[in-house]
Amino acid sequence: MKIEILEETFTAIKSNGEEFTKSFYKNLFIKYPEVKPLFSNVVIEEQEKKLLISLVLVIDNLRNFTYLKNMLYNLGERHLQYDVISDHYPLVGEILLGTLEQHLGSKWTTEAQQAWTEAYNAIVDLMLEGAKEKYRPLSFYTKELKSNLMERLRIESLTRKYIRKNNSTDTIVQKLMKDTYFQEIQQQIGSAKTVKIISSIVQKINNRHNN
Ligand code: HEM
Repeated sequence: MKIEILEETFTAIKSNGEEFTKSFYKNLFIKYPEVKPLFSNVVIEEQEKKLLISLVLVIDNLRNFTYLKNMLYNLGERHLQYDVISDHYPLVGEILLGTLEQHLGSKWTTEAQQAWTEAYNAIVDLMLEGAKEKYRPLSFYTKELKSNLMERLRIESLTRKYIRKNNSTDTIVQKLMKDTYFQEIQQQIGSAKTVKIISSIVQKINNRHNN
């Protein structure tokens, strides 16, 4: 990992860190408004500070792998409770790199881009390892759902929420059948098949939840 490049570019970002994190969330919510509900319990100004602090911690500890690993394992584990799933990480990565480019101007060289891409991937690997198997990519959805990433993310988050509230599978199926997306699916393939699809989604998420 090109530690010097990361440190050098991050020094430039840190001097105006609040501006940077503000742009980051603005860019994220413009490009991917679907992730906004995940932050509904959060005061966004506080969140901006936390993101900056965690980035500072990561960059300051690039030479202290044991500490870094522990910190990112724990962070990844906590993200499970925030309904973040593995499919969200590339979206945030794209926005993070884009915002770095926006703020670094001519300092955003090919080397800087490579170093940050590598670093982000390594950070995510550790966070996902921390969250272990529960974050496994969602490969079980039907063809209809697979074609629509954002719907898939929303349904995964919704289902997790219902599961956490200890709803029975039947109740979750009933709730999801009222969701606009599944109303449309029902019109296309009928309600019996839709119930089947939802039940299998709930069961698979439930299994991961309990493992
Ligand atoms: C490199 C990747 C990431 C880093 C370093 C990071 C960092 C943080 C930090 C430091 C917090 C504050 C709370 C805590 O420490 O547990 C946080 C909360 C949060 N993060 Fe991330 N995050 C990352 C990726 C993501 C992704 C991909 C998402 C999904 C869109 C996300 C969504 C959230 C949400 C929703 C919360 C707040 C939840 C709450 O307080 O209710 N994060 N993140």
